[in-house]
Amino acid sequence: MSYKDKIDLLKLPRHVAIIMDGNGRWAKDRGKLRIFGHRNGVLSVRDVVEGAVDLGVQYLTLYTFSTENWNRPKLEVMAIMELMVNTIHKEIKNFMEKNVRLNAIGDLAMLPKKCFDELNNAVETTSPNTGLVLTLALSYSSRYEIVRAAKNIAVKVQSGELSINDIDETVFENNLYTADMPDPELLIRTSGEYRISNYLLWQIAYAELYFTPKLWPDFRKEDLYEAILDYQKRERRFGMTSEQVN
Ligand code: FPP
Repeated sequence: MSYKDKIDLLKLPRHVAIIMDGNGRWAKDRGKLRIFGHRNGVLSVRDVVEGAVDLGVQYLTLYTFSTENWNRPKLEVMAIMELMVNTIHKEIKNFMEKNVRLNAIGDLAMLPKKCFDELNNAVETTSPNTGLVLTLALSYSSRYEIVRAAKNIAVKVQSGELSINDIDETVFENNLYTADMPDPELLIRTSGEYRISNYLLWQIAYAELYFTPKLWPDFRKEDLYEAILDYQKRERRFGMTSEQVN
């Protein structure tokens, strides 16, 4: 019996976020260059997206490239960007068939023009789709996002559009990249690392965290289902007592 058959579809997380980690180690284990791991990581992305669509998850957000990743060797950065351009280009047809809407968050202006254009084209082409919202966090840093939100709000206060007393959590959320999404209920990190690495720090305030030793290129939809089942076994209390939530 697949993990999928055991999942309670009425208690699905609406939003699953993933830190895809371990591509480099996966390649190294096979005596290959790191980019070999990233290429195989794309196969995992495809399978997991398919799994999320099949299940009916509404939002899937993938940590694809962090602001800190710009500090990697130039050759690796260029190879990842090229992989991204090719993958996005190839996947558009698949996204249209599966009713997936592509979205991107992060400091996208940092991306090479070819990558930025390909991404924008895919975002625009898939914008009428009403199924899974697949968000790629690219050149993304959560602290940058939070500072950016604070600046946006400060500008509105300065111009008189907003008063200081109006600032609350909702106003803050509306100034994050993720303004139109629910918070992730489940955050998955692969590769056996127990860190959040500057990812969606505000949004995961109440997320359930799931860590697996599997390296990202080995992660498949069945692993996503296993994580969701684990999530469904947890009691989410939001600061209340067990008796209150039951
Ligand atoms: C982390 O593994 C992975 C990345 C920084 C890149 C992830 C990118 C992809 C899987 C390509 C996805 C493309 C699209 C279009 C979604 P790592 O290199 O940090 O691995 P390590 O920790 O073993 O070194």
